[in-house]
Amino acid sequence: MNTHILIIDDESGIRDSLSGILEDEGFTTLTAPNAEKGLELLENEHIGLVILDIWLGDGMDGLTALPRIKERQDIPVIMISGHGNIETAVQAVHGGAHDFIEKPLSYEKVILSVASSLRYARLEKENRLLRERLARKKAQLTGSSEISAALRQQIEMVAPTDAWVLISGEHGTGKGLVAQAIHSLSASAGQPMIEVRCAAIPEELIESELFGHVKGSFTGAQSNKQGKFDQADGGILFLDDIGDISLKTQAKILRILQEQKFERVGGSQTIKVNVRVLAATNKNLEQEIEEGNFRADLFYRLNVVPIHVPRLAERTEDIPELVADLMQGLKEKGLKDKTLTDNAFAEMKKYNWPGNVRELRNFLERLAIMCPEKTVDADTIKAFLGLSKQVASPLREITLKPLETKDFKEARRLFEREYLRQKLEENDGNISRTAEHVGLERSHLHKKLKSLGITT
Ligand SMILES: Nc1ncnc2c1ncn2[C@@H]1O[C@H](COP(=O)(O)OP(=O)(O)OP(=O)(O)O)[C@@H](O)[C@H]1O
Ligand SMILES: [Mg+2]
Repeated sequence: MNTHILIIDDESGIRDSLSGILEDEGFTTLTAPNAEKGLELLENEHIGLVILDIWLGDGMDGLTALPRIKERQDIPVIMISGHGNIETAVQAVHGGAHDFIEKPLSYEKVILSVASSLRYARLEKENRLLRERLARKKAQLTGSSEISAALRQQIEMVAPTDAWVLISGEHGTGKGLVAQAIHSLSASAGQPMIEVRCAAIPEELIESELFGHVKGSFTGAQSNKQGKFDQADGGILFLDDIGDISLKTQAKILRILQEQKFERVGGSQTIKVNVRVLAATNKNLEQEIEEGNFRADLFYRLNVVPIHVPRLAERTEDIPELVADLMQGLKEKGLKDKTLTDNAFAEMKKYNWPGNVRELRNFLERLAIMCPEKTVDADTIKAFLGLSKQVASPLREITLKPLETKDFKEARRLFEREYLRQKLEENDGNISRTAEHVGLERSHLHKKLKSLGITT
């Protein structure tokens, strides 16, 4: 595709001579005697750069035309003027002009300026494409199962809008990755997404973290501090673990959602922001509402576009692709590559993966470090999965078994048995200490242990 240099000047002599020297340098040119004609050419031709006179006779002047050109296409514009003064030059550069050259024109200067503006524009474009590609790569959701395809489709639909999104799903399912994917496909992809891990911040500090504080508003507030909402102004704020914030902070967040304004901790000034919030949680917020821990109004506002990230066990078809992807990541970290047999994959698909993709990644890392063979078969997988069950968190063990039974009473019995067994073990079999630890009367615990068959 041939791109032209467009010369907009009301003096035909300038148009002809500029066109002549640029064509001698191997460029192709188009000319227009006024801004209106120039804008028309911009609509219909492939223009790579514009040389624009400021004083254009009776019609629209160059400084007015500049933003209109930039609006249509982000291409370099070189302004020229015979009435040049510092003020117009500054105005031109503020308006987005790449360069400003005074008349009478030095042709050498024009050629140099054209060459460097085109090079700059090319580099800028390359840079943008690279950034976009990097963002896409970073936030790639691997998996061609129907469930994963539907998830990607939801992300693609919601990302370009300015809707607030609530991402739900168990630990390690990829909620963080979904937030990154939304960001990378959104209008704010060029600026960083501000992240807040609500669960990691002590309750008394969360408000200051989100909204900032003024100096001296509490012990430790030694200077004014900007909050995350401020930092994210005009872009995206990702509130991870939103189910873990207090009702008071929820009320403040709701106000931002409704009015786009807030006050710093200890401050009286109202700050206006324009922020898009993505929130994630592994809690069942509907249940939290019922229990009075989460505001229903905030939930409904946040939940405009709910995205649920499914468990790995619901999309085991994705395992081979995920393994390839995660192995590549481990290889980049310097770990040895492994080849898994079909039977090995079949074994992995049978497992429940309570820690989801994160557990899969940790499992592969363990395999890469501890398994001496290059090829991994079903037996090795079984052995390693057995190992991972042993080191699995005790809570996970006790919550899973009851889930396998349909009967509520039986599930409760199983839970109680596993729980008390565990607590007894932690207290070296001492019933009095265990009773104190779990908040039961000693005699009651004694009876319970008997009825559950733990003691005789
Ligand atoms: N579909 C996927 N494709 C590739 N990698 C994934 C996918 N889903 C999750 N991962 C990887 O699994 C790990 C866990 O994902 P992530 O941290 O996003 O989970 P999460 O749901 O936010 O977990 P938590 O609830 O603990 O915060 C990350 O390393 C992530 O890159
Ligand atoms: Mg997360």
